[in-house]
Amino acid sequence: MKKAVPIQSAHRILNAGSVLLVTSAARGHTNIMTLAWQTPISAQPRLLGIAVGNGRFTTELIGESGEFVLNVAGADLLTQVARCGRVSGRDVDKFQDIELTAVPSSVVGAPSIEECLAHVECRVVETHVIGDHHLFVGEIVAASARDDLFVGGHWVEDAELLHHLGGNQYYISGRRVTPPES
Ligand SMILES: Cc1cc2nc3c(=O)[nH]c(=O)nc-3n(C[C@H](O)[C@H](O)[C@H](O)COP(=O)(O)O)c2cc1C
Repeated sequence: MKKAVPIQSAHRILNAGSVLLVTSAARGHTNIMTLAWQTPISAQPRLLGIAVGNGRFTTELIGESGEFVLNVAGADLLTQVARCGRVSGRDVDKFQDIELTAVPSSVVGAPSIEECLAHVECRVVETHVIGDHHLFVGEIVAASARDDLFVGGHWVEDAELLHHLGGNQYYISGRRVTPPES
């Protein structure tokens, strides 16, 4: 049996991708924001989209710099993920407050987060204001990942990625499965 899901919770049925920490920088400010609403958009060119709320400090910084980094948080960063998603960079310097380490990225000006498992650097090629979010379409210009956890183009089970279920609920990835060849 299935029952109706309230329309305001419907996106949570679909959106359980890996939680990211978005880093951005402009005007001498650097910032970190927790983000779950991300999607691949195109394979060639390599484009992805992130939806960032109109009022976020991150929206301002990405809007000004045209760049961002998606840092993949492992389960060991659960507390930091929750906090970066609760406070605004307008009020606190999250790199200082949350004790995450900013390291230079390889191509873009926004820093990467040392403690994260992987980093995808993007340059904004399109911005659309859609409802109450900005959809930043980013072209991937560089990427790096822990070589013990991202092997042969896949995350291994030990990676323990965080997935957001909505509100204050997450799960941790665990079992990798492969269907039989047909
Ligand atoms: C798990 C989690 C996922 C989130 N996903 C998003 C998201 O996809 N887009 C968004 O705009 N805000 C999202 N947020 C909320 C922002 O991270 C939060 O408003 C943050 O304080 C904004 O920071 P800023 O003002 O420094 O940019 C999420 C929060 C959490 C805890």
